[in-house]
Amino acid sequence: EIKMDKREENRQKPHCLLLPYPLQGHINPMLQFSKRLSHKGIRITLAATKYLFKTTQQFSGSISVETFSDGFDEGQGDVELDPYLARFEQVGTETLSELLDKLRDTGRPVDCVIYDPFLPWAVVVAKKHGLVGAAFFTQSSSVNSIYYNVYKGPLKVPLLDKEIVVTGLPLLDISDVPSFLRDQDSHPGSLELVLNQFRNVEEADFVFVNSFYELEEEVIETMAKFFRVKAIGPTLPSMYLDKRLSDDREYGLSIYNPDTEACMEWLNQRQPESVVYVSFGSIAELGDEQMEEVAWGLRLSNKHFLWVVRSSEEPKLPKDFAKESSEMGLIVSWCPQLDVLAHEAVCCFVTHCGWNSTLEALSLGVPMVAMPQWSDQTTNSKFVIDVWKMGVRAKSDDNGVVSRETIAGCIKDVMEGERGEEIKKNAGKWKELAREAVDEGGSSDKNIQDFVSGLCSNRL
Ligand code: UDX
Repeated sequence: EIKMDKREENRQKPHCLLLPYPLQGHINPMLQFSKRLSHKGIRITLAATKYLFKTTQQFSGSISVETFSDGFDEGQGDVELDPYLARFEQVGTETLSELLDKLRDTGRPVDCVIYDPFLPWAVVVAKKHGLVGAAFFTQSSSVNSIYYNVYKGPLKVPLLDKEIVVTGLPLLDISDVPSFLRDQDSHPGSLELVLNQFRNVEEADFVFVNSFYELEEEVIETMAKFFRVKAIGPTLPSMYLDKRLSDDREYGLSIYNPDTEACMEWLNQRQPESVVYVSFGSIAELGDEQMEEVAWGLRLSNKHFLWVVRSSEEPKLPKDFAKESSEMGLIVSWCPQLDVLAHEAVCCFVTHCGWNSTLEALSLGVPMVAMPQWSDQTTNSKFVIDVWKMGVRAKSDDNGVVSRETIAGCIKDVMEGERGEEIKKNAGKWKELAREAVDEGGSSDKNIQDFVSGLCSNRL
């Protein structure tokens, strides 16, 4: 009888199908967002590509998963981005449609498709099925608005001017804009991918961005003139912010296995505010020379450090560096980053400024040393340093490498002295604002509630 009730209850809930781009940094924010929706009475199903489903061990607790095909059930292999996306669109359009039919025919009809605009065709499929379409942008509003100004004009690629003007943003140096707009050749297909996000955006009934109003107020207001963009982040699990969701211990999906016990035990032995945490995210590859400079920079800083070096990057470490540094540092291949950033021993984050890492550091109040590598990271770092004033930028030399002296100097600037104090104060302020945004009645919470109310009234 209880089972029947549950089924009936589920039938009455609006049902959202999540369609993330199958990359960890895109799936997790969407999954975290969906936990908030689920908490407010929305039923959630995740649409995973067959390959993703096969190759990941862990999907967030209570969310049901269905599969569809991107045309690469055995993985993308060596296929370049352009042909990958073209086939994904062709096969995905068909198989997503079939999935929506199947869910309808088995008594689980979908009301709304929440899709990553890296897959802009998804809203067309949703509309063909008479459903609500909601775009979910993974990167910052500032980055989106720069791309939009290229997509719609007036900016033209490649950007060549020394200074770039974008309405709603501070004046940008050419080095601040996303790398794909300056250098189209090193990552073929990436520019089209980020610009195409706007291809069908007018057809979306809702446009969400993983940010929060207070963080990007001006640019959000500017973008809202073109489409109904609403900030719903930061999408960290509730336990790190407002603590209102009871069942969200799991972070989501990880392609790497974190060395949790080793990291936490090591951190527990450190003094409060004494450790530098270092990570360049899940994709970036450092040059051999840069890797050496990071290593000797950490040694030179004379601080305790926890450094994530993915196994594919490990051969670039100076010989015996890990062993010889064991008094001062711990090197792991992957860590539970949120628990690390939330630990009282950690007080500085040397980061590539991927958007997820940036939001996590900001939400947990950890000052940053920005070492952006590519993509949107240069823009994120501009905001971290000059707008949110939450860190310092580790500038590279003429040969494009950040020297050991610069790295050690930046760590000192963040951890010591007057500048460090100022940065710490700002970090505390952003931490509080991030929590408020998602807490009951906060700006992001209200936007999420409006969406949920809209879906519910649609059903009546
Ligand atoms: C990619 C792009 O590089 C980035 O520029 C873009 O904004 C998002 O997509 P990635 O390089 O993986 O992302 O960086 P980031 O966005 O920072 O995401 C990394 C995620 O992995 C974070 O959520 C972080 O908490 C997690 N992580 C990282 C771990 O859990 N453990 C680690 O050891 C390192």
